Amino acid sequence: MPLVSMRQLLDEASRGGYGVGAFNVNNMEQIQAIMEAARETSSPVIIQASRGARSYTNDLFLWHLMQAAVELYPEIPVALHLDHGNEPETCFSAIDLGFTSVMMDGSLEADGKTPASFEYNVAVSKKVVAYAHARGATVEGELGTLGGIEDGHGFGEVHLTDPDEAVEFVQQTGVDALAVAFGTSHGAYKFAQEPTGDVLKMDLIEEIHRRLPETHLVMHGSSSVPPELVAQVNQYGGALKPAWGVPVKEIQLGIRHGVRKINVDTDSRLAVTGAIRKVFAESLEKFDPRDYLKPARAAMQKLIAGRMRDFGQAGHAGDYEAISLDEMRVGYAAAAAAV
Ligand code: G3H
Ligand code: 13P
Ligand code: ZN
Repeated sequence: MPLVSMRQLLDEASRGGYGVGAFNVNNMEQIQAIMEAARETSSPVIIQASRGARSYTNDLFLWHLMQAAVELYPEIPVALHLDHGNEPETCFSAIDLGFTSVMMDGSLEADGKTPASFEYNVAVSKKVVAYAHARGATVEGELGTLGGIEDGHGFGEVHLTDPDEAVEFVQQTGVDALAVAFGTSHGAYKFAQEPTGDVLKMDLIEEIHRRLPETHLVMHGSSSVPPELVAQVNQYGGALKPAWGVPVKEIQLGIRHGVRKINVDTDSRLAVTGAIRKVFAESLEKFDPRDYLKPARAAMQKLIAGRMRDFGQAGHAGDYEAISLDEMRVGYAAAAAAV
């Protein structure tokens, strides 16, 4: 089937009471790892590319790699999503290329660092919703800022999402999905120890879901940073500090309270790097990239297949037929006319 609307994937997940992992990619091996994991577990999936990924891969390479993915895995519903679009033009170019979903991250200004005002956020998000929905594409907005600046996204301080503002934001913008800040950050160093409710505020997710039951909630910074992956990187010459991520059981709690999209990048990076380091450390004579990229791809597949089972999306690939973007466009127009 062709690339599908992320809105459809999330609506189906909501009906089925499960979450869908959104996994970041930068190259062919990562796309292959995700698609193989989706086939292995029979999962619908969201593949996402950041601005950095688009520039690293090149839009045209990325687009054709994704075309290969949908052709080779016709039984898997796949949405292609722009992660952390920094300004409307970045979202427009992704939609023009064929992305079926975009994130307009108006919680920060276009530099991706400076916290933006609520009014700015509403204005840019509305602009992107108008453009996207007129083409059947999905929009994720963000309210509140995540902690951490290690990957270049974020302000460094957590600004938790205010539930009242969340209601107003969704009403004013019409976004399909909302990323909320509840204590996570991007990267490997999210918490100084196993997180408790003081730092990882799952009750905030419950409250926002209570007020916005129809809005699909998104968890960014959702890598779990498994100790065994950190240990493998360090065993073979890495120097990662002790690190704590978001425990899978907390993500599962979020899924029971309206979280439908779960962003994971760091765990894939750890899996890939650990596997490559192992080959480099143990087989000094090897220099064929396939000798280390194959185990790297397999390690990422294993990680992602596990997450697909954890999030509950496993087994749901065959539940539905794709709705075309054109049909989605008509649906958005009809919903807008009914208001
Ligand atoms: O949230 C950020 C993702 O992990 C993508 O990171 O901008 O380094 O590609 P990136
Ligand atoms: P992690 O760094 O926890 O994998 O989060 C990724 C993310 O939120 C991408 O938008
Ligand atoms: Zn993110």
